Amino acid sequence: MNEVKNVMVIGAGQMGAGIAQVFAAAGYQVFLQDISAAQLEKGMAGIEQRLAREVDKGRLNDEERRAALARLRTTETLEAAREADLVVEAVVENMAVKADIFKQLDALAPAHAILASNTSSLPITEIAAVTRRPDKVIGMHFMNPVPVMKLVEVIRGLATSDDTFATVRQTAESLGKTAVEVNDFPGFVSNRVLMPMINEAIYCVYEGVAEPAAIDEVMKLGMNHPMGPLTLADFIGLDTCLSIMEVLHEGFGDDKYRPCPLLRKYVKAGWLGRKSGRGFYVYD
Ligand code: CAA
Ligand code: NAD
Repeated sequence: MNEVKNVMVIGAGQMGAGIAQVFAAAGYQVFLQDISAAQLEKGMAGIEQRLAREVDKGRLNDEERRAALARLRTTETLEAAREADLVVEAVVENMAVKADIFKQLDALAPAHAILASNTSSLPITEIAAVTRRPDKVIGMHFMNPVPVMKLVEVIRGLATSDDTFATVRQTAESLGKTAVEVNDFPGFVSNRVLMPMINEAIYCVYEGVAEPAAIDEVMKLGMNHPMGPLTLADFIGLDTCLSIMEVLHEGFGDDKYRPCPLLRKYVKAGWLGRKSGRGFYVYD
């Protein structure tokens, strides 16, 4: 098993920033990369704010907060992959974009480096196939919000080696997370179960069964879910929800996974949920 010291996180959106934060707080040297300077700035601002809150709550002292921030660097290129032991990719849920990044990472990263994807649903085996190291490609699926949620779903592609799996499991545990092993099928376990529920809640809006707030209330009070499905969809991002439903629909060829037309319409309108200020609800 290789020792992981240097980590590169690709994509500084809500997931990438959270992933970079937990690695830096756990003592890893971290490069956070994004093609958008604005996203890097926003991602770092969120990390600083959350680490400051950890200090306020007494879960971190000020020296630890400073040390975590000092371990974090940002970049707009992939060059830093040359020093990485582990890369965690967390860019948009789009196979063409991810495949292009994995090809570049494969050319840059040292031979021992593990290339992980935080994809919600895309086939790890297909991502691995664009590299010359499919044994070192794996799914490392964090849950949102990353600093709070305990699970990392670890997805083995067809060629993922036992050694790669063991390193990633141990690394997830070093972050205080629990790793659960899953095989590579569309949506894995998490989104194969979660996303059809969210899609069904959207059908309830589409068919006029109830207002969004009523649907959320039913699931919160009736099923003890911490967030209703439409609040959760807005929180995840409606673009991400739609991409996941499309992967399930195409991957299984089963119409039970057909994305709700209302979800498509919202995404086309740019109503992506919390991150764009509007989805099923309106945000400040
Ligand atoms: N980032 C970091 N921390 C956050 C946060 C965020 N976005 N939102 C809330 N928190 C923290 C708060 O700071 C608070 O921590 P403190 O101990 O410092 O107070 C803690 O979480 C609890 O927050 P609140 O008291 O404000 O609110 P809450 O009790 O409702 O909890 C929640 C918030 C943890 C997000 C909870 O609502 C929840 O568990 N929601 C469901 C989340 C979920 O299902 N995630 C999985 C999404 S699916 C996925 O990730 C996979 C995929 O591929 C799409
Ligand atoms: P997001 O929209 O918040 O962020 C995506 C980031 O990727 C943006 O900052 C964008 O600038 C960046 N990006 C786009 N193309 C890039 C490229 N070529 N190189 C570098 N950066 C690029 O998305 P997110 O919610 O953080 O999701 C990221 C990934 O994590 C997706 O694969 C998603 O399915 C997965 N995921 C999301 C959630 C969730 O709840 N949102 C949970 C688990 C996993």
